[in-house]
Amino acid sequence: MSRYEDVKERLCLALDLPTFAEAESAVDRLREYVGVFKIGMELYTAEGPRVVEMIHNKGGKVFLDLKFHDIPTTVAKAAAVATRLGVLMFNVHGAGGSTMMRRCVDAVNETADKEGLGRPITLAVTVLTSMNQDELTGEIGVGRDLKDQIVHLAQLSQKAGLDGVVASPKEIVPIRDACGRHFVLVTPGVRPAWADANDQKRVATPKEAMARGADYIVVGRPILAAEKPDLAARMVLDEMLEVA
Ligand code: C5P
Repeated sequence: MSRYEDVKERLCLALDLPTFAEAESAVDRLREYVGVFKIGMELYTAEGPRVVEMIHNKGGKVFLDLKFHDIPTTVAKAAAVATRLGVLMFNVHGAGGSTMMRRCVDAVNETADKEGLGRPITLAVTVLTSMNQDELTGEIGVGRDLKDQIVHLAQLSQKAGLDGVVASPKEIVPIRDACGRHFVLVTPGVRPAWADANDQKRVATPKEAMARGADYIVVGRPILAAEKPDLAARMVLDEMLEVA
């Protein structure tokens, strides 16, 4: 694989769009520059698995960002369905606990083995980046320091057999130190120097995120809302190439 192909496979575009038609036109326009397309709750709730199928038919890979968080049996069943959909990766909440996460991994392995399918990368969400220490402690009742809680949940998910976590740029280094080189780190909150931060607070450039050790970077609005989305994607790739 060329270095360009390699970084392209590590660029994930957040398809935060309301309809199938808008998602399809973004995939058509950006497929050349983007390896992975992230489908979140809005698009999936509106349009369902046909969006996954559409992306696969166009040669893209899918990150199914539905953050499963339920009793172990329910999450295991959803994990089996995600495996059958053939997504590259999907995620669960680490706060669901190790039994839930282990059952998720078991369901992925069993489904993939029995049905001769590829095994998706399983990711945990640690603490949502929208949450601060006051909410974590005062509302949710977790006394631990927020940064320690993030690393704690990353390690818990690793012990449960998950492949990696979604980690903000600030969290990459401590999680990498705690969980090692092979743990997969998928990093949103990425903003090229030329882009608006929007509502993201702790941002890093694509180059910084890569240099800190992100395996995949997730970018949404800096590409989708750009005047020329294909040019914006190409500029993100060029920046990633500087450190790849
Ligand atoms: O448009 P933008 O680049 O901010 O999009 C980032 C994407 O990553 C959004 O889909 C957002 O929901 C998601 N995300 C995030 N921060 C997290 C987890 C997911 O921004 N901690």
